[in-house]
Amino acid sequence: MDYKKNILVTGGAGFIGSHLVRRLVNNYPEYHIINFDALTYAGNLNNLKDLENADNYTFVKGDICELSDLEKVFSNFYITDIIHLAAESHVDRSISGPMAFVMTNVVGTVNLLNIAKEKWAGAKDRLFYHISTDEVYGSLGAEGLFSETTAYDPRSPYSSSKASSDHFVMAYHHTYGLPVKISNCSNNYGSHQFPEKLIPLMINNIVQEKDLPIYGKGDNIRDWLWVEDHAAAIDKIFHEGRLGETYNIGGLNEWTNIDLVHALISIVDHKLGRPEGSSKKLIKFVTDRAGHDKRYAIDASKLEKELGWTPSIQFEEGLEKTVDWYLNNREWTENIISGDYQEYYTNQYES
Ligand code: NAD
Ligand code: TYD
Repeated sequence: MDYKKNILVTGGAGFIGSHLVRRLVNNYPEYHIINFDALTYAGNLNNLKDLENADNYTFVKGDICELSDLEKVFSNFYITDIIHLAAESHVDRSISGPMAFVMTNVVGTVNLLNIAKEKWAGAKDRLFYHISTDEVYGSLGAEGLFSETTAYDPRSPYSSSKASSDHFVMAYHHTYGLPVKISNCSNNYGSHQFPEKLIPLMINNIVQEKDLPIYGKGDNIRDWLWVEDHAAAIDKIFHEGRLGETYNIGGLNEWTNIDLVHALISIVDHKLGRPEGSSKKLIKFVTDRAGHDKRYAIDASKLEKELGWTPSIQFEEGLEKTVDWYLNNREWTENIISGDYQEYYTNQYES
């Protein structure tokens, strides 16, 4: 079939990527979605089992750090657009091993930019859309929000690598005229998130009656966004956003970590028929993360004004749906934590 677009989605087997791929495959039968993913510890084809037989979906195992993998996918498919999500994504891992973040997030992104620039020379209607994080803006105090004009001030190896990749994307736009867009999003939550991140880690530990490790005093603040709302925003920006622009995406939904963990305890205890709040005893305050950013919060008014995007669901509803998904899909988490990943998973919180 002759598709209207052949979209290369990198990192489509990860948390956000899988939600985005599902949305694009189901909503746009006129597009061919090519999911290009190295299947690192964080990539999981179980996230996309429902799409296995979709005509307009193809999975390609490939690494953005390997030029030969990129050459191959560009010669096998007539790629018209790239939505780039492939990354090392966990701050704690970036502290214990920054080089993997430099390789994938910086070098891998530049590899992808180079091949797009080369293959798209002289072509019209191409797009390189880079998915990034609000963490590039650094850390907020009690007041204020990150906007698109906030100066970059990354503090962790993860956010530094993402900031670097953002700069390269814009540099390729200004220097070589590559058609690009960037969005910077706040913390996502929802189904299929790898259980090293706060929300799925806490749900799993509450279920298993294991310690709930809270870094520092638990007063750091994150702005949580439902992952499907992020996918919807990416869809909007991909289709309607302006070239060369950055869009911030966020939930206007700030929670301290400790309040969020209390909320999770209350939902999970209730659903498991345990006495209300009984899992509070599992909370363990542990040594703070090095350089722990205090607060993130996004001003998403540009996206709302220009493209009419707003989050679709309330946090309480999204959190309950998320807990339901993890409780109903225990084998998804168990498959992960019983694999090679176990050692890192159980050792990282010694305080
Ligand atoms: P994730 O860790 O769940 O998934 C990353 C995916 O990238 C995995 O499928 C992995 O196999 C793949 N990958 C890693 N290295 C690769 C390589 N060298 N070549 C090809 N594929 C590779 O991450 P996520 O949470 O879904 O985040 C996706 C993107 O969104 C990242 O770029 C991240 O920086 C950004 N982001 C995440 C959040 C969040 O809250 N999770 C918020 C804002 C932005
Ligand atoms: P995380 O999910 O790793 O996302 P990010 O660091 O990218 O914001 O962590 C969210 C917040 O939760 C962050 O302030 C660190 C904190 N945290 C804990 O207190 N305990 C944990 O076990 C984890 C994984 C995170």
